Amino acid sequence: MNVLILAAGKGTRMKSALPKVLHPVGGQSMVGRVVNTAQTLGAGQVVVVVGHGAEAVKTHLQGPGVVFALQAEQLGTGHAVQCAAPQLEAGDITLILYGDVPLIQAHSLSPMIEAARSGQVGLMTLSMDNPHGYGRIVRDAQGQVTGIVEQKDATADQLGIREVNTGILACPTASLTRWVNALRNNNAQGEYYLTDIISMAHGEGVAIATCQPGYDWEVTGVNSRQQQAELERVWQQHLAMQLMSNGVQLADPARIDIRGNLRCGQDVSIDVGCVFEGEVTLGDGVQIGPYCVINQCTVGAGTRVDAYSHLVQAEVGAQAIIGPYARLRPGAKLADEVHIGNFVEVKNASIAKASKANHLAYIGDARIGERVNVGAGTITCNYDGANKHLTVIEDDVFIGSDTQLVAPVTVKRGATLGAGTTLTKDAPEGALTVSRAKQLTIEGWKRPVKTPKNKE
Ligand code: UD1
Ligand code: CA
Repeated sequence: MNVLILAAGKGTRMKSALPKVLHPVGGQSMVGRVVNTAQTLGAGQVVVVVGHGAEAVKTHLQGPGVVFALQAEQLGTGHAVQCAAPQLEAGDITLILYGDVPLIQAHSLSPMIEAARSGQVGLMTLSMDNPHGYGRIVRDAQGQVTGIVEQKDATADQLGIREVNTGILACPTASLTRWVNALRNNNAQGEYYLTDIISMAHGEGVAIATCQPGYDWEVTGVNSRQQQAELERVWQQHLAMQLMSNGVQLADPARIDIRGNLRCGQDVSIDVGCVFEGEVTLGDGVQIGPYCVINQCTVGAGTRVDAYSHLVQAEVGAQAIIGPYARLRPGAKLADEVHIGNFVEVKNASIAKASKANHLAYIGDARIGERVNVGAGTITCNYDGANKHLTVIEDDVFIGSDTQLVAPVTVKRGATLGAGTTLTKDAPEGALTVSRAKQLTIEGWKRPVKTPKNKE
């Protein structure tokens, strides 16, 4: 199957330097979403018609199975298809989608694909209370579709038709090419209308099979920032409802944002204001506190992520406690029962089972063993200004507060570091190591007193 995606329009109303179809819905560019849907359907070839911002769109979408057709001048939807026709596999069917109609769902398209495979034209329509602006579906006395008339070309009677054209259609490619090459632009807008192929098909005795989307919003297009934001809310609400159907507890389905794919085990609960980005997996019984941002992470069963934590490309084990105000950066790998508390930052570091860093610490480029206690204010000095170095902390180590570990350095099994230590050499197993100026008290010392100022 060929999937043809129209994406040449300018998107003037976005008032953006970025081509319209590159703006996101649900954390992904609109046109990228449509390409993904096409690939989900098993498209042999995806042809994207580009025009305004062609280079940016091509760069964004380049990859296997995607080719481009340039429509230098936008002379209408029919003309856009004409421009792409030479690139379509003629022996197969073609499905036409739109780069600015991002939420079309694969399963809604299946009946149209079936229709096209059996030699018909599959056309997606929608009945609207206010059809203003849309092409109207014209049917004969038997209810057969005979054509589509655009708003600007419609008679008063036709304007009363509430069934509209969504623009999405599928048909055999050879017919499509023949039809679009025969289009004329003698209409109110002087455009080559793709919609005119419907009356051509009907004239040849080809049946038009109509179908409707599962949800109306699947065929909603975006032309402005307002419409983008509206569609985003609709999508987020849909995802929230799906999560709850699958047993996730949401404190408020209107206050969650999923910009990617969130998979949850049983009895997961998510408080308000959380943002999930990319692929995120939460195990059974995970509890996410309010206002957390979680990007491309896996979180093990029974773990709690408390308020205002920020997790990016991290792996968290089971029964762990993270936050409040924790920061896990890429490469943080926390085993089961690890505790990471407030204002603790972990980057490119593995922390083994039941170890804790509960307050104000930086753990970067480190390998930490089991049952280690990292005191408040501890810092791995991993960067010498040119290179990053590794800190190794073996099992059962106790690190006193306000310690600096100047990497590369190793703290051996069972060692204790005294508070305030600046560790520059390895600390031996089982011993107390401390680097600290000796404490002294000066007897008879007097605090200076303030000299009175001369009054003038
Ligand atoms: C089109 C349909 C109309 C339908 C409506 C649904 C036609 C003639 N009319 O109308 O029946 O109800 O969509 O939204 O098809 N595009 C190009 N190149 C062009 C023109 C358009 O790539 O030369 C792309 C646009 O970027 C857009 C899509 O095609 O993504 C639809 O174009 P638009 O001008 O919005 O179509 P309408 O006139 O609204
Ligand atoms: Ca138009």
